[in-house]
Amino acid sequence: MKNILVIGSAGQIGSELTMKLREIYSGNIVAGYRSTKPEKELLESGPSEMVDALDAKRIAEVVAKYKIDTIYNLAALLSAVAEKKPLMSWNVGLNGLINTLEVAREYKCAVFTPSSIGAFGPSTPHDNTPQDTIQRPTSMYGITKVAGELLSDYYFYKYGLDTRSVRYPGIISYTTLPGGGTTDYAVEIYYAAIKGEEFVCPLAKGTYLDMMYMPDALKAAIDIMEADPSRLVHRNSFNVASMSFAPEHVYEAIKKEIPSLTMRYKVDPVRQGIADSWPNKMDDSCAREEWDWNPEYDLTSMTKDMLKNLRKKIK
Ligand code: SER
Repeated sequence: MKNILVIGSAGQIGSELTMKLREIYSGNIVAGYRSTKPEKELLESGPSEMVDALDAKRIAEVVAKYKIDTIYNLAALLSAVAEKKPLMSWNVGLNGLINTLEVAREYKCAVFTPSSIGAFGPSTPHDNTPQDTIQRPTSMYGITKVAGELLSDYYFYKYGLDTRSVRYPGIISYTTLPGGGTTDYAVEIYYAAIKGEEFVCPLAKGTYLDMMYMPDALKAAIDIMEADPSRLVHRNSFNVASMSFAPEHVYEAIKKEIPSLTMRYKVDPVRQGIADSWPNKMDDSCAREEWDWNPEYDLTSMTKDMLKNLRKKIK
């Protein structure tokens, strides 16, 4: 049995992770949300509470009420929107995290806070980016992610708090749209294909980035928290990868299924600048060695599944 609080349960990851956790665990799996209420299915399948990551007192109330033992802290602004609202990105990303860690310290909860490919920067080796390497990101999103990794490790070393996390690639899913990320194009192109619209790609041809299908992203979040702690050399955060592609590759993969899809490039300098500073492909061998990370989907199998599910959703 586990009692889990998901902060940010209405978001792209939270909406699916909360449902998955309810499938797996008995106990209270609490959907924490701020302004946007989660979908009906999420609200009706278990407890939900308003929890703002910036309100430590409220986090503590909910943790005490449901005897929470694990917190998934997913509150964050994605990379492109964080460039428009850097102070809010800092506030939600880091003050939200330190609030969560302090409550977790008091109530002895384990904490998962996702990091990202955004935690790397232009001076990081871009190909087979190692687990332990240079992290000098130039985006506000990346700055909050590096600081979040360090803060989470600090609470582990100083207080013995069970903090663990992964560096997510761009996440592709069909349930809830991401909002304002550099990798969002790789979700939007599937919607355009199903709707029969031309796709206008904000990133240039040849821009390689790590990507991951949602079922693997959920598996990563659950497997890392279930991992045997005695095997963990690292904690915050593990590189996790499953596929790396550039816009032309996802376009070609969809075109095999929907030959009428058309795409043109209209590069957004903000997103392109961010994408150019991120890895092309991470080396995730530490995650494979320390907790048996093993993703299921590649570009072809993801594309078939995305299109099948989006057809049901949209038509
Ligand atoms: N998907 C995120 C973004 O593009 C990266 O972690 O902001």
